[in-house]
Amino acid sequence: MAGRRRVMLVVVAAGLLAAAASAGGSGGKSARFELLRLAPAASLADLARMDRERMAFISSRGRRRAAEIASAFAMPLSSGAYTGTGQYFVRFRVGTPAQPFLLVADTGSDLTWVKCHRHPAANNSNASTSVPAGSSPRRAFRPDKSRTWAPISCSSTTCKESLPFSLAACSTPSSPCAYDYRYKDGSAARGTVGTESATIALSGSAAKKAKLRDVVLGCTTAYNGQSFLASDGVLSLGYSNVSFASRAATRFGGRFSYCLVDHLAPRNATSYLTFGPNPALSSSAAPDAAASCSHAAAAGARQTPLLLNHRTHPFYAVTVRGVSVAGELLKIPRAVWDVEQGGGAILDSGTSLTVLAKPAYRAVVAALSKSLAELPRVAMDPFDYCYNWTSPSGRDVAVALPELAVHFAGSSRLEPPAKSYVIDAAPGVKCIGVQEGPWPGLSVIGNILQQEHLWEYDLNNRRLRFKRSRCTH
Ligand SMILES: *[C@@H]1O[C@H](CO)[C@@H](O)[C@H](O)[C@H]1NC(C)=O
Ligand SMILES: *[C@@H]1O[C@H](CO)[C@@H](O)[C@H](O)[C@H]1NC(C)=O
Ligand SMILES: *[C@@H]1O[C@H](CO)[C@@H](O)[C@H](O)[C@H]1NC(C)=O
Ligand SMILES: *[C@@H]1O[C@H](CO)[C@@H](O)[C@H](O)[C@H]1NC(C)=O
Ligand SMILES: *[C@@H]1O[C@H](CO)[C@@H](O)[C@H](O)[C@H]1NC(C)=O
Repeated sequence: MAGRRRVMLVVVAAGLLAAAASAGGSGGKSARFELLRLAPAASLADLARMDRERMAFISSRGRRRAAEIASAFAMPLSSGAYTGTGQYFVRFRVGTPAQPFLLVADTGSDLTWVKCHRHPAANNSNASTSVPAGSSPRRAFRPDKSRTWAPISCSSTTCKESLPFSLAACSTPSSPCAYDYRYKDGSAARGTVGTESATIALSGSAAKKAKLRDVVLGCTTAYNGQSFLASDGVLSLGYSNVSFASRAATRFGGRFSYCLVDHLAPRNATSYLTFGPNPALSSSAAPDAAASCSHAAAAGARQTPLLLNHRTHPFYAVTVRGVSVAGELLKIPRAVWDVEQGGGAILDSGTSLTVLAKPAYRAVVAALSKSLAELPRVAMDPFDYCYNWTSPSGRDVAVALPELAVHFAGSSRLEPPAKSYVIDAAPGVKCIGVQEGPWPGLSVIGNILQQEHLWEYDLNNRRLRFKRSRCTH
């Protein structure tokens, strides 16, 4: 244990402070990722619960090397709504020859993992049955079938110092480096870490494939709870030098971007997770684009500094200056947006509903509900403000929704479509789609509020760029 990094747990959404602080037991470190649901139609209450249960940990930040390479690659991204989750899934190919998986695209994670056979090297005829909880995965990674899988040993420096999620247990020096992610509801993902090659489709040159080597990959051999039944694992996009995002961004332009289709879009509506310059933000391909507002403006993108702060690691934090409704700036204490004062705001692709720390939540719902006061209220978990949107004539009522804007440092504003904050909760019912978070605490800009926008995380220049988009290509 000595020499291990200190690991702090952070609760992304409401309520679970310190819940997993000791979850790793004897020197173990644990993290909590988004929860996925098996049920084909998870309710918004379920989604909210999953959001609340979501946690991840923070480790000290590593220095990253950044090599600008004039190339990019993209991975298809789609809404997981068809599985009843509030997640976005990305297609990911790993191993040699490549094995395909569907992973949750998660900016709040620093470990990429896939479901895996338990005894990769031994007899594997019955190996797939080793995944417990009565579930047999649709797909499982077979390290024994990959020429490029390289286990990391538990005695290695990489295991002991570089992987913030590894367990201390090390029975023999050559034993594999193990991890154990715990979840408050008792679910967990366990396995061992190695490095692998991912197959990527380079952008530009028609359908050219390439390998990205030395990707840190967790081989999850056991999990319980229903959290991970809808996907094959998690693609880590967090700010950590072992995350996939960092690995890929280091090779491809120091940046990545994604466009989130409407969260209710069918599974065949795909957009892309792109590493390197994104053609839709074409001017950002210029080497010094980030330094210049005019370049970003030329591409129609807005930008704000990305705070890669050790306090919010591995999350992507931004400075919020305020929130306005119908053009009026709401009265919210500044501390709510200040990490140093117990507040702060992060963007998270793995949280569905936006969570606002109590004072911000109160101000936002007060302003929005005022303009909806004429509509009959209905009760619908987990929301406090839901409205019957069906008129006595049976038609949807036509109510002009006030515009909501999130103001960021650098005078940029996120102006989401109304459906991103007054959301369809049931047929004929709409709700103010934000959740109350504890104060003090972080506020989280969830993926529904991010939908129909292109988001670029420029790690080299510490800039977040965003732009309205239907994400159709
Ligand atoms: C991550 O950073 C640490 C130092 O902060 C370094 O020792 C380690 O080698 C890095 N790991 C990877 C996979 O780059
Ligand atoms: C693997 O399976 C073969 C036959 O299927 C058997 O002969 C052998 O003993 C098994 N090896 C192990 C390690 O279980
Ligand atoms: C493999 O599974 C089948 C069916 O579940 C079972 O009949 C068989 O005994 C198992 N074989 C081994 C080697 O465990
Ligand atoms: C998706 O599927 C629906 C129905 O299955 C079809 O109507 C639609 O054209 C498809 N969209 C795309 C982009 O393929
Ligand atoms: C909404 O109002 C309509 C008409 O007044 C009514 O028929 C319907 O049952 C209401 N729906 C809910 C969910 O209360």
